[in-house]
Amino acid sequence: MTTSLTLNGRATRFSSDPDTPLLYVLRNEGKLNGAKFGCGMGQCGACTVIVDGEAVFSCLAPLATLEGRSVRTVEGLGTAAAPGPLQAAFIRHQAAQCGYCIAGMLMRAQALLDRVPNPTDQQIREHMEPNLCRCGTHTRIFAAIKDAASGGKA
Ligand code: FES
Ligand code: FES
Repeated sequence: MTTSLTLNGRATRFSSDPDTPLLYVLRNEGKLNGAKFGCGMGQCGACTVIVDGEAVFSCLAPLATLEGRSVRTVEGLGTAAAPGPLQAAFIRHQAAQCGYCIAGMLMRAQALLDRVPNPTDQQIREHMEPNLCRCGTHTRIFAAIKDAASGGKA
């Protein structure tokens, strides 16, 4: 049995067991290692991807629930050579320390900016609340999101 979905804009089929969490499907079958395993319980956000415009914990989303849906991962935002605008803002603000949380942070922030291009400080704080950074770079992450929202003028 295969599951068909759109992954970073491309029609994609996965043959993993439908009960497999999307995080493992992306990393093992999809060879996309951006999304990280942190807790596997919906408590850290390291695995966050965007599904149909919403930030989703991929560790909790069985493949079967993704049939026909659109998934975006950090690999869809840009590359090391050509980072997307949000990634570039994270680099400018040196938002990453160890970097483990950053792909999830980027995807949660991107979901907000896609829906609310100019969020208030309160909206950013509330939206980003589910994602944790053990290195404590939340202040830099916040600044980077504000910077990206202002088109690099923050
Ligand atoms: S690994 Fe998914 S929320 Fe922590
Ligand atoms: S940069 Fe290390 S967990 Fe966030």
